[in-house]
Amino acid sequence: MKLKTDIFEQFDRKWGLLTAGEKDQFNTMTISWGGLGTLWNKPVATVYVRTSRYTHEFMDAQDYFTISFYPDEVKPILGVLGSKSGREMDKVNRSGLTPKEVEHSVTFEEASLTLVCKKLFRQELDVKNMTPEIADSFYSGDAPHDMYIGEVVDILEK
Ligand SMILES: Cc1cc2nc3c(=O)[nH]c(=O)nc-3n(C[C@H](O)[C@H](O)[C@H](O)COP(=O)(O)O)c2cc1C
Repeated sequence: MKLKTDIFEQFDRKWGLLTAGEKDQFNTMTISWGGLGTLWNKPVATVYVRTSRYTHEFMDAQDYFTISFYPDEVKPILGVLGSKSGREMDKVNRSGLTPKEVEHSVTFEEASLTLVCKKLFRQELDVKNMTPEIADSFYSGDAPHDMYIGEVVDILEK
């Protein structure tokens, strides 16, 4: 598996979609926090999902998830998928993106890059262990993030 991309720019500036579920029932949301690396001798991806997100339910229920990245012209759609909840509306259908089945999970036809991940680990980011600055900036009143680490089992690149 080879990845030819600036992963910092992908997450922070271009954003991505985190998707979990099966093709007939899944949810997706925009993410800009995440990373890639090596853990337990495996290539891994890490994402951070607030427990209040609808996607969180799918992340807990499923063994696989995908992280997908898009050409610049799709960014306005990512803005919508990152501000509306799948709990309140059928945001995927309205977005115009085309769901695409991959092994054990879902991505979208429009993606230029998809990481297919097998869930290995989940843990709440404990506010007690954060510096006061981070705790105050991100968690005063807001739901905590759970960290999910998945083995990258496939990379689909256009
Ligand atoms: C640019 C951008 C990046 C985001 N990154 C994250 C993230 O890394 N983790 C997270 O929990 N929420 C993140 N969000 C917020 C979720 O995408 C947003 O709350 C979404 O509506 C959740 O949808 P859901 O309830 O259908 O899961 C981000 C939103 C935007 C616009």
